[in-house]
Amino acid sequence: MFDQSTEVCGSPVVSGIMSRRHQAFAGIITANPEMEKIFHVIEKVAGTNSTVLILGESGTGKELIARALHELSGLSGPFVPVNCGAIPDNLLESELFGHEKGAFTGAVSSKPGRFMLANNGTIFLDEIGEMTPNLQVKLLRVLQERVIEPVGGVKSQAVNVRVIAATNVNLWEKVQEGSFREDLYYRLQVVPIELPSLSQRPEDITILANHFSNEYAEQNSRRPLVFSPEVLQVFSRYRWPGNIREFENLVERLTILVDGDAVYTEHLPRYLCEQSEADGFDWRRSELPEDGLDFNSVVDSFENSLILQALERTGGNKKAAAELLNLNRTTLVEKIKKKGLGQKRDEEQIQLKAAR
Ligand SMILES: Nc1ncnc2c1ncn2[C@@H]1O[C@H](COP(=O)(O)OP(=O)(O)O)[C@@H](O)[C@H]1O
Ligand SMILES: [Mg+2]
Repeated sequence: MFDQSTEVCGSPVVSGIMSRRHQAFAGIITANPEMEKIFHVIEKVAGTNSTVLILGESGTGKELIARALHELSGLSGPFVPVNCGAIPDNLLESELFGHEKGAFTGAVSSKPGRFMLANNGTIFLDEIGEMTPNLQVKLLRVLQERVIEPVGGVKSQAVNVRVIAATNVNLWEKVQEGSFREDLYYRLQVVPIELPSLSQRPEDITILANHFSNEYAEQNSRRPLVFSPEVLQVFSRYRWPGNIREFENLVERLTILVDGDAVYTEHLPRYLCEQSEADGFDWRRSELPEDGLDFNSVVDSFENSLILQALERTGGNKKAAAELLNLNRTTLVEKIKKKGLGQKRDEEQIQLKAAR
């Protein structure tokens, strides 16, 4: 088995136990400082009635955070999730606010909406960015006046509901485009919580791998998997577009498919290793100095170094260098000119020749 003290991307490889300081807060596992800050926000806001807007890529744990907020709120009512993106437009209004008997074809009896079901609890409006302008106006009214109007009804009904919304799209961009109401945007994001993507949480890879490995081992009555250092390295380099959901699903699949206890890179799907190789450069290894740095000049010299290396490798062929950096040729040429790198490279070549 692997040397249990091996350091991979700063995290010791462990199986079964979690060796690093980490937080498990309402089922949310993390060792990431940004996430820990979010826990403090949750603690502060949970007991209030303020609307919270949770932002983050798909699979980053938005619903988990919303449930944590509800659990800590002490509200007596239920947590009612609504996926605004998954319910057809014409049904969403009655789903949210309910309808009276005969309000539309098929409305054989009256039905309470999810707002009413969530009375004295929390409604979680997921994928809020998908809501049509017509419904956005109605939601704004509910948020402001705390009353709902069922479809086909004449009387408003008072509701006491905590509203949490979430989106994986850039809502501010939608406001600028005119497809999301600015007044609703401000009304929703009284307290915004922005979740980092998994690739921005390198310290979470090992603890999440072990957490899910334990969980699925128990479910499948087997011993937890142990991940080789190379596998953890692939995990920490992969982009994880589906974030923690994608990671969890992979660990579940490996738990079922891997015969022994140990997971090696050959057990991983090929795309995972390929993308990880393509992104083989690991910028996360650069550490921010104790006393800070000059951001622009560091980024500038980093760019210079990559461009010079690409030119070096391609013998000065700008088209090939641009391909190596996945840049447009014209973009690269402009950068070289602006940064005076053509000249720098010639000087370096002369020095190199002289040294030989
Ligand atoms: N920090 C975390 N610790 C443990 N499990 C997590 C964490 N974040 C997300 N998950 C799990 O990942 C999956 C996706 O989370 P979810 O909250 O549905 O994401 P989102 O709503 O952002 O798409 C769920 O199974 C959830 O339990
Ligand atoms: Mg979700």
